[in-house]
Amino acid sequence: MTIDDVPRLRFGYLPTPLDEAPRLAEKLGIRRLLIKRDDLTGLALGGNKVRKIEFLMADALEHKADVILTDGGPQSNHARQTAAAARLFGLECILHLGGPRFDRFEGNLLLDVILGAEIRFIPDATVGMMERAMVKAAEELRQAGRKPYVIPIGGSSPTGALGYVAAIRELAEQLGDDREPQIVHAVGSGGTLAGCLLGTRLYLPGARIIGISVGRASKPFQKIAADLAERAAEIMGKHEQFNAEEVEVFDDYLGQRYAVPTEAGIQGILLAARTEALILDPVYTGKAMSGLVDLAEKGIIDPDRTTVFLHTGGAPGLFAYEEHFTKFARYSELPNL
Ligand SMILES: Cc1ncc(COP(=O)(O)O)c(C=O)c1O
Repeated sequence: MTIDDVPRLRFGYLPTPLDEAPRLAEKLGIRRLLIKRDDLTGLALGGNKVRKIEFLMADALEHKADVILTDGGPQSNHARQTAAAARLFGLECILHLGGPRFDRFEGNLLLDVILGAEIRFIPDATVGMMERAMVKAAEELRQAGRKPYVIPIGGSSPTGALGYVAAIRELAEQLGDDREPQIVHAVGSGGTLAGCLLGTRLYLPGARIIGISVGRASKPFQKIAADLAERAAEIMGKHEQFNAEEVEVFDDYLGQRYAVPTEAGIQGILLAARTEALILDPVYTGKAMSGLVDLAEKGIIDPDRTTVFLHTGGAPGLFAYEEHFTKFARYSELPNL
């Protein structure tokens, strides 16, 4: 069985481009840097979740779902992309969002509103609290005769992870003879990392995957990703084993906690924008870029081997963090002549 044999709905703009980034490579002191533009997957401003949701929606429709439930923070890109995908298939979407209180519907939250998702906000909720509320809501819907389909946070189920198995195969085709890249990306809930691990095992065995955690310590992620990769392989009828200790995840760049920007992350955003006109975000890709910068500086990234920065999206969230950028404005007021 190959990844093409797994049920999938195709609504992402794929393949995404793989662009050279020579100015940024020079700043990092590495020979070749490529950007895999998964911020351009289409659907309601794109991002990495579109790939996962292609597999998840196929599963939802197979289960005859009429309402999709998922959860995340108020600025969840995953929630926004799920709400959008539900619309494409005429389904309702209920989002259980938790985190700090907000007083404006901005960034991703604004798009959730525009897409007509039902938002159930739980102030200061942990992931566990959100997931419990969601499971309870699904049970109530079931008792009312509905057919809910629950997608865990970040779409990081074994089925969701398959999106990145397909992504790595796509990347392998684009890379041609360059078979030993090091691939760097942001890690939030672990599904992208898991998919990349399985994808490289199957389609690009010479690649090295480097995850940059944006919210949690490395240790639990190593295990989460290894387990998810094994379970995703099972869906493909394969028995693959992953050693959690060999999964490379760095947690040195997450700062205080998830969704709290770091100074290095803000600098990473400015660097990418001002060298390659790439728009990153403070929650995920900016922190991942700060990791890439530091790992290149320390020589942990091999400067002679091709590096691929997987741009997982997130730009809509940028518009909820304006205050971190105003000091960089080159702005003046001219007299009215
Ligand atoms: C922009 C962006 N990058 C990276 C990630 C991390 O992906 P994953 O949750 O699969 O680890 C997410 C989602 O959480 C995201 O929205």
